[in-house]
Amino acid sequence: MTFSDRFPSDRTLVRGRVLSFKRRPQRAGDTDAYTYLEDGVIVIDAGKVTDVIDASEIGRVGGKGVVLHDFSGKLILPGFIDTHIHFPQTQVIASYGEQLLEWLTRYTFPAESRYGDPAFAAAQARFFIDELLRNGTTTAVCYGSVHKGAAEALLTESERRGTAMFVGKTAMDRNAPPDVLDTAQSAYDDTASLITAWHGRGRQKVVITPRFAITSTPEQLEALGNLARAHPDCLVQTHLSENLEEIATVERLFPERSDYLDVYDHYGLVGPKSLMGHAIHLTPREIVRMSESGAVAVFCPTSNLFIGSGLFDYKGLEGEPYPVRIALATDVGGGTSYSMLATAAEAYKVMQLRGQKLSAIEAFHLMTRGNAEALGEPDLGRIEPGAHADLVVLDSTARPAMAHRLAAGNCDLEEELFVLMTLGGEQNVQEVFIGGQPQGLHRADE
Ligand code: GUN
Ligand code: ZN
Repeated sequence: MTFSDRFPSDRTLVRGRVLSFKRRPQRAGDTDAYTYLEDGVIVIDAGKVTDVIDASEIGRVGGKGVVLHDFSGKLILPGFIDTHIHFPQTQVIASYGEQLLEWLTRYTFPAESRYGDPAFAAAQARFFIDELLRNGTTTAVCYGSVHKGAAEALLTESERRGTAMFVGKTAMDRNAPPDVLDTAQSAYDDTASLITAWHGRGRQKVVITPRFAITSTPEQLEALGNLARAHPDCLVQTHLSENLEEIATVERLFPERSDYLDVYDHYGLVGPKSLMGHAIHLTPREIVRMSESGAVAVFCPTSNLFIGSGLFDYKGLEGEPYPVRIALATDVGGGTSYSMLATAAEAYKVMQLRGQKLSAIEAFHLMTRGNAEALGEPDLGRIEPGAHADLVVLDSTARPAMAHRLAAGNCDLEEELFVLMTLGGEQNVQEVFIGGQPQGLHRADE
């Protein structure tokens, strides 16, 4: 029997320094939390990882018809996962001088109104996914605009690329200009029909997305809570306790609720499938409830700094006796970078300002397996048999300043990762693979 008889010809091998996490690291130096092969080969069949082996054994998986992508010396990680990003804010990023509520009114709502045009939305979707991939992000949880068609445009583009995307039509029926408003009924109907058409179609998923309590009436929150109950496998995403003026407004709008989280809770929107963006200024009661419900606090450091929202209390939330699940995200366009590396760097700095430490392995775990677990996706964010072969290839020396820093000598893996997150970004992404397919950021020698 020849190799080509034994193996389907769509087998792909990717060779390099393979890093994948097994669990959440407890601290720097927690080497049991990950597997690392200095010269490894990822074996991919039909878009999924089937094996990860030492390159010395390559003879047993190679052969005729098998394509080898050789990135020897480069780091290969699971593609990064961004758990909170706004698709219609690619032209809002880097807007000057406002905090949350003024920033929404002055820049964001006008920009999002343009997504009612399907041709515009389709063109923006192409840019958006290109930009994610250039930054090594292979899966994202996305807010759309209020328009159902914009969510469809992004889902359509993601399906064409083969990426796994989570997309919500943003629901908002008050406190914004008329051209970005829906109604309780239309938000329910549009989201329900997106779920029917797209949720679980290939790699696409639909997210129930009330923007935040200020822009949803009680009727809309109730309708979406009902939808969440009817579709318990759908993620729910919204914003929570990002800004003090926002919190005071929510208290005025919902005086009968005990706090901001309780607004969402009352309508059945808080549970293990709930991604709560920001969660900076939580009360002790809210922290207990976040913990008990299994809801995820999504840390968006570049946004929190840029919009001046506050300093996320990572270690305070993570710790006993009420540990809260935490994910990491860019929140473009309140956030200022599409790069999860740059996002981790800002997370580190936010934590420094709180006297807390974020080790490189904790950060890289978050960007990959940690974020996948926050989404409840066991086949994403890791390189092990059964996982989707969504990969990022990183060149730690792509920038002269980084090569120079690493040339100082005696850099171990964790120090290299720390340099990567602190100084790195798009320039370090040499290639991404989606379902085992290279996306052509770089043509490897084959
Ligand atoms: N709160 C409600 N909408 C938004 C948004 O688009 N970005 C941020 N950062 N916070 C929000
Ligand atoms: Zn956001």
